[in-house]
Amino acid sequence: MAQDNTPLKNLINLAGKGAIVTGGARGIGLAIARRLAEAGAAVLLADINAGEAKKASNELTSQGYNVLSLKCDVTDEADVRNMVAGAIRKLGSIDILVNNAGVYPRKPLDEMTGEDFEHVISVNLTGTFLCSRYVIPEMIKKQRGGCIINIASIEAVHPSSTGMSAYDASKGGVLMLTKSMARELGPHDIRVNAIAPGAIKTQGILSHTGVSPDRNQLKELKSFMSRMALGRMGDADDVARVVLFLASDLASYITGDLIVVDGGYLVS
Ligand SMILES: NC(=O)c1ccc[n+]([C@@H]2O[C@H](COP(=O)([O-])OP(=O)(O)OC[C@H]3O[C@@H](n4cnc5c(N)ncnc54)[C@H](O)[C@@H]3O)[C@@H](O)[C@H]2O)c1
Repeated sequence: MAQDNTPLKNLINLAGKGAIVTGGARGIGLAIARRLAEAGAAVLLADINAGEAKKASNELTSQGYNVLSLKCDVTDEADVRNMVAGAIRKLGSIDILVNNAGVYPRKPLDEMTGEDFEHVISVNLTGTFLCSRYVIPEMIKKQRGGCIINIASIEAVHPSSTGMSAYDASKGGVLMLTKSMARELGPHDIRVNAIAPGAIKTQGILSHTGVSPDRNQLKELKSFMSRMALGRMGDADDVARVVLFLASDLASYITGDLIVVDGGYLVS
């Protein structure tokens, strides 16, 4: 419950809260985990890449943060169920869920198989549903509200390039799932919001777009960049800061919303 005399440092304080970040081994997910941990949350990195997740959690732990990792493929319902049970055991409670795990392979429509399409939908959209599905009853049981943040994309509202139809469909689905969940979970004081990043410098996006020697891709990256009002690609931490805001009591009255973090791409 918001009170106008709450000190700012208390509003942003996540001490005593447990958080799951899917796809937290690297990139945007790792930056999110670092900020949530810095604000005092105990954080579980749930990632299909167990080795990279372990390395990331060890590094954050060595910096004094309370961070653990568990292998989880968000497309596998049994895996998700076990991961959530593990999170409850290790964190005590799950107050924050960040559905960040995602893939963005690129393929023209006439080359895309049903299997290709399904894979993207199953990680980006079904994975978001499954993790939420198993976390929600735990949040409701604890009766202290909660916060779910879905990492969508600007592609959820505007396709920015070709070969991304499965991805765009999956992220459009994430946006509507967010709004629908917000309606249903509001009475339990569970806020559900989405973030739409633009081009954010991560290992994943760099291998996907620009740094390959493919000249067409480089040309496309340049034209993409020219549309950014702020004139730069985003850093993973640009997104993590907004996740921290949404996860904190600074955002106590925001639910069902989409925050665009794209350096002004969509308005250019
Ligand atoms: N980087 C960008 O420009 C950008 C822009 C818009 C949206 N996004 C979204 O942000 C999220 C993170 O992107 P990123 O650039 O950091 O990606 P990344 O490829 O650098 O990292 C993604 C992480 O997700 C994990 N992952 C993949 N499939 C998984 C699965 N089935 N189960 C569990 N974990 C899985 C990977 O192991 C990896 O650690 C994605 O949802 C992506 O769609 C990224």
